[in-house]
Amino acid sequence: MAIIAPSLLSADFTRMGEEVREIESVGAKVLHIDIMDGHFVPNLTFGYTMVKALRPISQMVFDVHLMMTNPLEYIQNFANAGSDIITVHTECDSDLGKCIDLIHQCGKKAGLSVKPKTPAEALFPYLERLEHILVMTVEPGFGGQSMMPDCLGKIAAIKAECAARGVSIPVMIDGGVNASNARMAAEAGADMMVAGNAVFGASDRAAAFRDLSEKSSL
Ligand code: DX5
Ligand code: ZN
Repeated sequence: MAIIAPSLLSADFTRMGEEVREIESVGAKVLHIDIMDGHFVPNLTFGYTMVKALRPISQMVFDVHLMMTNPLEYIQNFANAGSDIITVHTECDSDLGKCIDLIHQCGKKAGLSVKPKTPAEALFPYLERLEHILVMTVEPGFGGQSMMPDCLGKIAAIKAECAARGVSIPVMIDGGVNASNARMAAEAGADMMVAGNAVFGASDRAAAFRDLSEKSSL
């Protein structure tokens, strides 16, 4: 069964604490937290102070997705705030090796992400040093977009390269996951799936979370 990680981006921003408690109560073990800097993507969300504010009220794994041009400058802050997984983009301006090293020095799991137009091969030089891989299935920047199914093909390429190198890294997909495509994504090999609108936007979030979890089990 793939792990469904609800995305805070689709929560009601007037009630963040209650939203996080509710989504944990329906069974979520991982919370995806999208950080956008207005440069790497044409949108802004929230910063490490949000992670810090939410940390004491939740036991969930905080999976922090840095859509930032210079993530290296902020990794320490996100780590201190209580992130568990910190993911940076292959397309950012920071030195990726330095980002991974700093995330590890902070005692956190390091993730690397590829946008839809970036080939899986961009991840390969770093595979031995990663605990998490994030394959974007939409152009990053906004929730509620439709999945680009072609991106799912990268998962097999990543898994084959991981196997060849003798490493095992969970692959998460991000963008447009819903009840109609979760099974296809699971069949493509996704171990974890971000779900924003499909969970937070549902009238019955518990049912939506359960349904996605079931559809993603092969
Ligand atoms: C998009 C973000 C996603 C977003 C997914 O840039 O990285 O994590 O929250 O939202 P949905 O599931 O609604 O596409
Ligand atoms: Zn994300």
